[in-house]
Amino acid sequence: MAILASTMLPEALVLDVPEIDSQHEDIFFQIESLKESCLESNALPVAAIDRLLASLATHFATEERLAREAGIYFSDHEQQHRDSLAAIKRATHGVQQGTRDVFCLLRYLECWFERHITDADRPLAERLNRTPAFRPARPDAAREFRYLVA
Ligand SMILES: [Fe+2]
Ligand SMILES: [Fe+2]
Repeated sequence: MAILASTMLPEALVLDVPEIDSQHEDIFFQIESLKESCLESNALPVAAIDRLLASLATHFATEERLAREAGIYFSDHEQQHRDSLAAIKRATHGVQQGTRDVFCLLRYLECWFERHITDADRPLAERLNRTPAFRPARPDAAREFRYLVA
């Protein structure tokens, strides 16, 4: 079954930081695709879970870079990323060893990701959006400036 990536990220989880929202969207899409694949095969596709882990590592590095560039304290959030990645790798290993149910892992992934966005990423996004260098430029700002100096 085809899944549209553009419908994956719930509106309530959009943070108005395009680079972060785009990566969240992609990760939601991958989790949803994993669910579809597991429903069809009742097994965890190794390549897909490896891709998801790589995307999470890249995404965490992005948030860490944005926080660093904006001068935002990030150590606690960074520790959450490390702990989460280790927990997901352990759970994935458990599924591959047959000691953990694949759908239990998928439910965990989905709940953890939504909770992490709400509890950790939203406060980061709010601080980024209060940092002038990260605020998106208003399209009419240049026109207003020309009017003021004319
Ligand atoms: Fe995130
Ligand atoms: Fe995060």
